[in-house]
Amino acid sequence: LRGARVIMACRDEEKARKAIREIKARSHNMNVLHMEVDLANMRSIREFSKTLQKEKRLDILINNAGMPSVLDWTDDDFSMCFGVNHLELTEQSDQSHLLQLQVPEDLNYNLFPFFTYCRSKLANIYFTQELARTLEGKGVTAYAVHPGYVQSNWICHYSVLFRILVQVVMFMTVVYCAVSDEVLEHNGGYFTDCQPAHLRVFARDSGVAKKLWEASKRLVKLA
Ligand SMILES: NC(=O)c1ccc[n+]([C@@H]2O[C@H](COP(=O)([O-])OP(=O)(O)OC[C@H]3O[C@@H](n4cnc5c(N)ncnc54)[C@H](OP(=O)(O)O)[C@@H]3O)[C@@H](O)[C@H]2O)c1
Repeated sequence: LRGARVIMACRDEEKARKAIREIKARSHNMNVLHMEVDLANMRSIREFSKTLQKEKRLDILINNAGMPSVLDWTDDDFSMCFGVNHLELTEQSDQSHLLQLQVPEDLNYNLFPFFTYCRSKLANIYFTQELARTLEGKGVTAYAVHPGYVQSNWICHYSVLFRILVQVVMFMTVVYCAVSDEVLEHNGGYFTDCQPAHLRVFARDSGVAKKLWEASKRLVKLA
């Protein structure tokens, strides 16, 4: 863990404690702690944000938590996928790498959860591009990441065939984007397999990214 102070932002205290015990045992870094946040609740996100601001510095923020395709809503009545995967907008300190793990009006669409999931991930890509533009020159960079396919809880929500096919264990790209200086020249980029991925033309549309940014800020009452 490179001597870092690591904050695990989780909603489930018991799971967090178990994970922290394991991390401490494996890394021998005792500076690992839990802070509570429920990303399906705006009030909780704001309280977490306030607590985080008391930290002396923030070097790396990894927004990894994500909801798969489920037909459900957050406490603030956003579609669960869209609310948890995209609307948890964040403010950061300088010298940070910010990672977003991978319009308007019908943004909150939820009838076909798989489509909402896909849209939330596309939203992460647009959001990261606009965040990078907004923070340009301020010593903060942002990347969207495809972590690779992993046998996690996420996979339980998909078909048995998909689960059998998904055997590759990854998540290296997340670490790569967090610590490597090679990514700096790709600020706002989308990474997969530890390299910048080619995005289709519509996913590079800065006009849509800006509209989404503004619409998202309105939705969470930051504008
Ligand atoms: N696994 C894959 O193959 C794969 C492929 C492509 C993209 N991804 C993306 O990678 C990211 C991580 O996925 P994963 O595979 O690790 O999935 P996972 O095992 O389901 O883990 C998701 C994590 O998000 C947390 N979370 C969900 N809702 C939350 C909320 N409202 N507040 C706080 N935390 C919440 C969960 O907390 P609890 O433990 O409390 O439920 C869990 O720790 C996601 O963004 C996913 O979309 C994964």
